[in-house]
Amino acid sequence: MSLRIAVFASGNGSNFQAIVDAVQAGKLDVSIELLVCDKPQAPVAARAQRAGVEAFLFKPKDYASREAYEQEILQKLREKQVDLVVLAGYMRIITPVLVEAYEGRMINIHPSMLPSFPGINAIGQALQYGVKVTGVTVHYVDGGLDSGPIIAQRALDVFADDTEETLAVRIHAIEQELYPEVISWIAAGKVSINGRNVTID
Ligand code: GAR
Repeated sequence: MSLRIAVFASGNGSNFQAIVDAVQAGKLDVSIELLVCDKPQAPVAARAQRAGVEAFLFKPKDYASREAYEQEILQKLREKQVDLVVLAGYMRIITPVLVEAYEGRMINIHPSMLPSFPGINAIGQALQYGVKVTGVTVHYVDGGLDSGPIIAQRALDVFADDTEETLAVRIHAIEQELYPEVISWIAAGKVSINGRNVTID
């Protein structure tokens, strides 16, 4: 039986698309049960429709609190028997409602070499700081900001003439390769967590 995943995204959805493409190409053996998106007009919603993936589209302001919409999301994840939650550019704080229910079963991709440059606009933060090397991190989600145990990282050089746009192009290319690969390791049962240390068999 394939691992059942839900992808959470807020924007363009290039990572969502890379996961869909890897599944369709037979390179990733998971079942994409649901897209969760807090911006119904975002391009990722149209991508899900094209791929035939069911979507839960919601507007946070229609709910009394973060916990209220997360309870609804949790119900959907349970209905779909989702094993792994994959955050792919989901730009909202996650509360203990979801973090605790999916502890050790929720991963995120972040466009920097964590623990450097957590939070928003990581690519811009890295450029502004003047680092010569930056990267991509895939990690488990805990209660903090981009702070959970690290599963995989890839580094890349920052060029003297890089802008946020040019650097983002190279970072996104790495993300789109790395994220489906990490998901395939989890699906194959190769990943174990021991405190902050994650090992891949
Ligand atoms: C990706 O670069 C992802 O790493 C980043 O948002 C982008 C989403 O792109 N996530 C974060 O910054 C999370 N803190 P996409 O919508 O094209 O997949």
